Amino acid sequence: MTAFTVALVLVVAAAGLLRWRRPAWYWMTFGVTLASLRVLVRYASVMDACGLTVPPPRWRLALARIANRPVPDSRPPRILRFRPTRTGLVLRLGLRPGQDAFDVAAASDRLRHSFSMYGVTSREVRSGVVEVRMTGYDVLKRVQMPAKVDTRPMRVPVALREDGSVHYRDYRAVPHALTLGATESGKSVYQRNLVAGLAPMDVALVGIDCKQGVELFPLARRFSALADNPDTAAELLDALVSRMEGVYQLIRAEQRITSAVPDAEIAADIWDLPDGIRPVPVVVLVDEVAELALFAGKEEEKRRDRIITTLVRLAQLGRAAGIYLEICGQRFGSELGKGITMLRAQLTGRTAHRVNDETSANMAFGDISPEAVLAAIQIPAETRGLAIAGDSTGGWHRIRAPHTSLRQAVNTCNRHADRTPALPELAAFRPELVSSSEAPVPLSKTAPVTA
Ligand SMILES: Nc1ncnc2c1ncn2[C@@H]1O[C@H](COP(=O)(O)OP(=O)(O)OP(=O)(O)O)[C@@H](O)[C@H]1O
Ligand SMILES: [Mg+2]
Repeated sequence: MTAFTVALVLVVAAAGLLRWRRPAWYWMTFGVTLASLRVLVRYASVMDACGLTVPPPRWRLALARIANRPVPDSRPPRILRFRPTRTGLVLRLGLRPGQDAFDVAAASDRLRHSFSMYGVTSREVRSGVVEVRMTGYDVLKRVQMPAKVDTRPMRVPVALREDGSVHYRDYRAVPHALTLGATESGKSVYQRNLVAGLAPMDVALVGIDCKQGVELFPLARRFSALADNPDTAAELLDALVSRMEGVYQLIRAEQRITSAVPDAEIAADIWDLPDGIRPVPVVVLVDEVAELALFAGKEEEKRRDRIITTLVRLAQLGRAAGIYLEICGQRFGSELGKGITMLRAQLTGRTAHRVNDETSANMAFGDISPEAVLAAIQIPAETRGLAIAGDSTGGWHRIRAPHTSLRQAVNTCNRHADRTPALPELAAFRPELVSSSEAPVPLSKTAPVTA
């Protein structure tokens, strides 16, 4: 008996300790069973208390009256599926007549503390079916990506969402994206995760890092072209435009379209070309975009206009040619001069890390969703890396990228260095690697060879 008590105390203490120090492990050992039992046992009464039940149909009431039986209970939504996951529970509910998905969404906060879960979100799967995702703990506190993710070409699992699902950056669905955030809010870490995610794929990476190259140059071995100042950036972008024109010529030749058809009217893109001749897609990463748009004199102003015009052209026509823009900056509004709002309108994917004021949040979401603006302002300063990601449908999610260190990203890039395609148009900007192939890290800044 005493041995049993000791064992019980030990188990409870271990569970308590795990829950405090390692909530993810606690969830997978004790939490998931306890929570499943709690949800299944209390389901009917909680649904009733949260106002999610409907009265029984009239024929059952009439039947009960005729048979002189007690009045049947109100009915909660049917559980169509119950699935425990790595981070929580997923319930599929079949709604009763008279209920709608909004009822469940409106009750999600009540459900959250009735079931003692950390978070509850719901979405409509199809008419009459709602998926309720519950998380057992704060999954964004220490982000751990699941070991198994759904990888497809040009689709990078980049962060974790608040409901425990994986947030993907899908270049074919959303070609261009803008990432905003105050200084030290986690933009570069997000971008680093993207680079690490893209490194094993068949893609050329092009980097423009006007912060003297401190963020992207250490990853140089996986980059086909790099620029660390606005002058080189201007030339690099011009070279990208000529590559784009070349790709359009290739698509035309393949389609046998005469050269009288303007580029923007060609419906096909590189993914329609046969595998053998398809040009490799290019992801252009720009860190600190404002550096490209600022100027202090006539000469620099000319350069600035040239850069912004080229970026707008790439954003307008790049998708079909397999050129995708990934732009990061602290602010990206009309105060940076003409052309900026036009460029911004082309950047469909929006992510905002912590911002200091509403105007910055508006630059990301003002034209998409006012709720997302509010959510972006409310990101606390101490949880760096937390961000709001919007999608083109007006929906948004709270996400956080895993904390990938520069060293981890460098190692990933070096491991996949042999995948770096050599693009002839961009050969002049290919980073010159100082170290031999055995030396692990070119941590010193490598200057690009200028044309
Ligand atoms: N997802 C994350 N999880 C945990 N910590 C993070 C995360 N993202 C960023 N951080 C922390 O925040 C620090 C600053 O991040 P980062 O360099 O990405 O900021 P930034 O927005 O690029 O800033 P700046 O505008 O000054 O370049 C990082 O060194 C890291 O310690
Ligand atoms: Mg940065």
